Amino acid sequence: MKTLFRALLLVPLALAGMQAQAADYTIKFSHVVAPGTPKGKAAVLFADLVDKKTNGRVKVEVFPNSQLYNDNKVLEAMRLSSSKTTGLMAAPSLSKFVKFSKTLQTFDLPYLFNDINDVHKVVDSPLMDRMAAGLDKKGLRALTVWDNGMKVFSIKGDKPLMNPPADFNGMKFRIQSSNIAASMIKNLGGTPQKLPFKEVYTALGQGVVDGQENAWSNVYSKKFHEVQDYISVSNHSYLGYLVVVSDEFWGNLPADIRKQVAAALEEATAANRRFAAAADTGDRKKIENSKYAKVVDMTNAQRAAWRKATAPVWAEFRNEIGGDLIDDVNKLLGR
Ligand code: SIN
Repeated sequence: MKTLFRALLLVPLALAGMQAQAADYTIKFSHVVAPGTPKGKAAVLFADLVDKKTNGRVKVEVFPNSQLYNDNKVLEAMRLSSSKTTGLMAAPSLSKFVKFSKTLQTFDLPYLFNDINDVHKVVDSPLMDRMAAGLDKKGLRALTVWDNGMKVFSIKGDKPLMNPPADFNGMKFRIQSSNIAASMIKNLGGTPQKLPFKEVYTALGQGVVDGQENAWSNVYSKKFHEVQDYISVSNHSYLGYLVVVSDEFWGNLPADIRKQVAAALEEATAANRRFAAAADTGDRKKIENSKYAKVVDMTNAQRAAWRKATAPVWAEFRNEIGGDLIDDVNKLLGR
């Protein structure tokens, strides 16, 4: 994604110092999480920066909490939209691109990343452009990646999830629309159920599912911990977002405007990483200090057992994702 920003920055700055005026373009930014999360905050900051950098010529309206669309619907709406003056932008999780990209599934491979630093090595490398390649042919322009954080597992029951498959047997887990997540849950011994994000709290509360996997800020802001008994700090995969816009809208923007919007996005991306790092420790603490789900750390041996149980997922998806790509990501991560 860095490549994209670099290309845009070649266009000369034309808007600085212009008088404020009525918006010529509107970007509707739709997302599904709470405004106080790393994505929610970055979206609002992006809107503010765009307003300043374009002197009001572009207005970004942010719709949090699935108010406008859920993640799957927003991608369809984006692909169908043809307005040159009103564009749809969104930041669905990387897992939700499964219908449009096989290569982006790399991000879902369990235990690919040891931590967020590993994630940034990949996202900031040319491999990211390789993984997002081809989305433009589906009507989606990939702009940047935003963090949430590493995922943890929550469960309602009399003990935390620690030993696969025994602790997962007979348990149903909500997952995103990711085939890799589905396979991962099966390999751990549980049953996966794909559900939209906005249905998760109710599904957990009513026992439609027993548990779920998510980043700390989503667990806290959507109160999942209030209807769960334990959270295992599994850090088994990454929850991050691909910020996308309708390819047609983006291509039709005047080059100077596009450059200003891209510059705003670059600043918002840097801020998003800070918001995510703060949420990772802050929201975990808030959950630990609450009277609800108990947070349970895992030992290296326990984590190794999860890694071993989920290893077959890599073999299952190797051809679909592309063995060369997986090998190159591993090489970049020093494996
Ligand atoms: C999100 O963080 O945008 C939603 C993730 C999920 O569906 O669990």
